[in-house]
Amino acid sequence: MTKSNNRRSSNWYGKMDKDGFIHRSWMKSQGLPDHVFDGRPIIGICNTWSELTPCNAGLRKLAEGVKRGVWEAGGVPLEFPVMSLGETQMKPTAMLFRNLLSMDVEESIRAYGIDGVVLLGGCDKTTPGQLMGAASVDLPTIVVSSGPMLNGKYKGQDIGSGTDVWRFSEEVRAGDMTLKEFMAAETGMSRSSGVCMTMGTASTMASLVEGMGLSLPTNATLPAVDARRMTLAHLSGKRIVEMVEEELSLSKILTKESFQNAITLNSAIGGSTNSVIHLLAIAGRSEIELNLEDFEKAEDIPLLVNCMPSGKYLMEDFCYAGGIPAVMDQIKNFIRPANTILNKDITHYFDEAEILNEDVIRTIDKPLKHSAGLKVLRGNLAPNGAIIKPAAASEDLLKHEGEAYVFEDIEDLKENIDRPDLPVTKDTVLVLKGCGPKGYPGMPEVGNMPIPKVLVEQGVRDMVRISDARMSGTAFGTIVLHVAPEAHAGGPISIVKTGDRIQVDAKNGLLELLVTEEEINERLKSRKQPKENYSRGYAKLYVETVMQADKGADLDFLVGKDTRLPNRESH
Ligand code: FES
Repeated sequence: MTKSNNRRSSNWYGKMDKDGFIHRSWMKSQGLPDHVFDGRPIIGICNTWSELTPCNAGLRKLAEGVKRGVWEAGGVPLEFPVMSLGETQMKPTAMLFRNLLSMDVEESIRAYGIDGVVLLGGCDKTTPGQLMGAASVDLPTIVVSSGPMLNGKYKGQDIGSGTDVWRFSEEVRAGDMTLKEFMAAETGMSRSSGVCMTMGTASTMASLVEGMGLSLPTNATLPAVDARRMTLAHLSGKRIVEMVEEELSLSKILTKESFQNAITLNSAIGGSTNSVIHLLAIAGRSEIELNLEDFEKAEDIPLLVNCMPSGKYLMEDFCYAGGIPAVMDQIKNFIRPANTILNKDITHYFDEAEILNEDVIRTIDKPLKHSAGLKVLRGNLAPNGAIIKPAAASEDLLKHEGEAYVFEDIEDLKENIDRPDLPVTKDTVLVLKGCGPKGYPGMPEVGNMPIPKVLVEQGVRDMVRISDARMSGTAFGTIVLHVAPEAHAGGPISIVKTGDRIQVDAKNGLLELLVTEEEINERLKSRKQPKENYSRGYAKLYVETVMQADKGADLDFLVGKDTRLPNRESH
């Protein structure tokens, strides 16, 4: 480690005047000696630890690991808290606050005298929210994730976060599982700290972060309680100091190619549909042109990871089978050259990788499914696009035409879905409105709406469902999501009526409302704008400025970056 008076932090701690006195003296109240302000790198540890975000509850300990590494490498670690987003705990949805977290992260990094930052996140929205904020400041940045929980256990079987909640809840509704059994499964599902141990959004985002070279290899899959994760935190602390020396800022790693690699990897792991919206938003902050066409144009990548919800295993099994390095090695012919936090090209990042269990991680010539990419659908029902995940859908429903049954909002759905006289068949297309970014607000994970009870009792377990909502990365089914523009913004989904016919064709990327253009225009003209629920605070700002799903649902004024130093002093 070299000492320098030209570091970013020197503007705070290197001045021999009143301002330098103020910045240093108050820091010394924590017991820091003079010499730590001699020009060595100051590293911020941006922590989303919170007891209200159980998935991130282990981050306090990992922060200690990072600090050891920073001290060892000759830097000074300073931990700071940012807003934490507990996916399963926040109402109306953690997604409403992803952009708020990103603002917190961005402004904290910019306002403080740090030279590099370690992002400690995990639960779904914390990883993208932190990266969005960090990209808008562009310091050397490294990610250390919570890591997945241990496998869930129930009656001697492995059970997966989310995925088995949806399955068990349908079994209870069908009368195939008792409430007592349901409660027993609840206790066995979450056995340690860490994120959902299915390939949900948290593990998807951690996997993509690893595949983009923003973390050390194995960061995505090492279980939260595995001692090797503490080692990884230590090594990440050591590495961030070196990155400051090398002036390896985030924009040298986040490139168009690294985003394309993330899209490729997402297919191979059967990753969450939420990755689309998060990658678009992070790219927007990084000033990189990325849009739905990039997902449409992506090569047809086979599904290699046999993990719920697309397969049968869990993240712990995936880790022991070789994790992301083994998958990256299998898809190396599709991976584009791109730099990483090790200042080494991603194509050499995973040189030593091997598959240790070929049922959990398939080889490229024996995949779980031959084509696994997310599909973008377009048509008069979604002029700006919608998303479907074929790997988690029923093959026979991927091309389907049926009559719509419409729920005007989530309350309508909750009130009527279990009605014994609901006029639906297995061929009906369920449509849910009012769940987009502006409408809910925040675009919740309700797109995997339950199968109507009357059909559950007939043994139906999947049907076509369409909405402007998102769905949990742990969910499955033939579910069309992210319809844009959303109903609340006047998209054509707002004028669909029960009885209209709808056509879905995932292979050919089509989503059509089979109603004449004149009739659609007539209905759009007479459509009434729903009342706004929020008249103040962050939610008001959000509803007024949030962009649609096809643009990543970021606030319009947050796109891009500002890397200038805040030069004015506070006193
Ligand atoms: Fe936090 Fe799934 S709820 S990762």
